[in-house]
Amino acid sequence: MIRTIGVADRETLEQNLKRLKLRHVRDTLDAINEVALAEEPSYLDFLAYLVQEEIAGREATQRQRRLKAARFPAWRTLDEFDFSFQTSVSQQNVRDLATLEFVRKRENLMLLGPPGVGKSHLAIALGIEAVNAGHNTLFITMDELAARMYASLADGSLAQYMRSLLRSELIILDEVGYLTLDKVASDHLFQLVSRAYENVALIVTSNLDFSDWGTLFTSPGTAAALLDRLLHHAHVITLRGDSYRVRSRLVPPRSIELKEGVIADSKI
Ligand SMILES: Nc1ncnc2c1ncn2[C@@H]1O[C@H](COP(=O)(O)OP(=O)(O)OP(=O)(O)O)[C@@H](O)[C@H]1O
Ligand SMILES: [Mg+2]
Repeated sequence: MIRTIGVADRETLEQNLKRLKLRHVRDTLDAINEVALAEEPSYLDFLAYLVQEEIAGREATQRQRRLKAARFPAWRTLDEFDFSFQTSVSQQNVRDLATLEFVRKRENLMLLGPPGVGKSHLAIALGIEAVNAGHNTLFITMDELAARMYASLADGSLAQYMRSLLRSELIILDEVGYLTLDKVASDHLFQLVSRAYENVALIVTSNLDFSDWGTLFTSPGTAAALLDRLLHHAHVITLRGDSYRVRSRLVPPRSIELKEGVIADSKI
């Protein structure tokens, strides 16, 4: 039944928008009204504008949710990455990875190299790109992962924790190699990588060459089987050179303060 159009009653309108779960339209009603008054669109254009506003609002909310869930330890972007300092990595290669084709194909990316060369920076920056593109992403260090696995093993929630990890489309596992893993941690890491294989894209950063991964695990067989799965569909980038952290110390302190101020402002 088509009703006749009555005079808008603000309270009823807000209640109806709530019932229809059009939260963003409801929250920006005054701004929307002002746009309509200023631009005098046709009724159909106005309806299209309303719908578009709701969609844009929902997308922004979902991006914010994904960003929070990703638990990035800091805000690092590709634009901030100085390729003229880190010359061992090809900018084109990184730009190709930023198309996120590897995430859609559930492939892996290994970022290897000594401390301070930009492994975590690139991993976070690609993770932020993934979040922006709508992929559920999780950043976790190997150390945190082991601690979470132990805690969930202790309270009987390990299966649930594993399932929650595997709901991500991209997992960034940072700092594999700084700590050796005991049998329990290496078995569970192996389980995670096996279940992620071809289902979840992984970015792994490590200071170790693959030939040294055997030293990480109690059983060299586990290291071999894990690498086999990790490397089957993998992009490998080996970063070389000096630590950017050491270089930063050579920059006059005032510039560092300014740079950190800017970064702090743009934190999540
Ligand atoms: N090429 C670069 N351009 C801009 N900033 C960089 C670059 N390389 C590293 N950095 C910055 O230097 C710091 C150290 O880099 P990052 O954390 O990525 O090192 P890493 O390779 O992960 O080292 P580690 O193995 O010790 O964790 C970070 O603040 C990062 O943003
Ligand atoms: Mg790092």
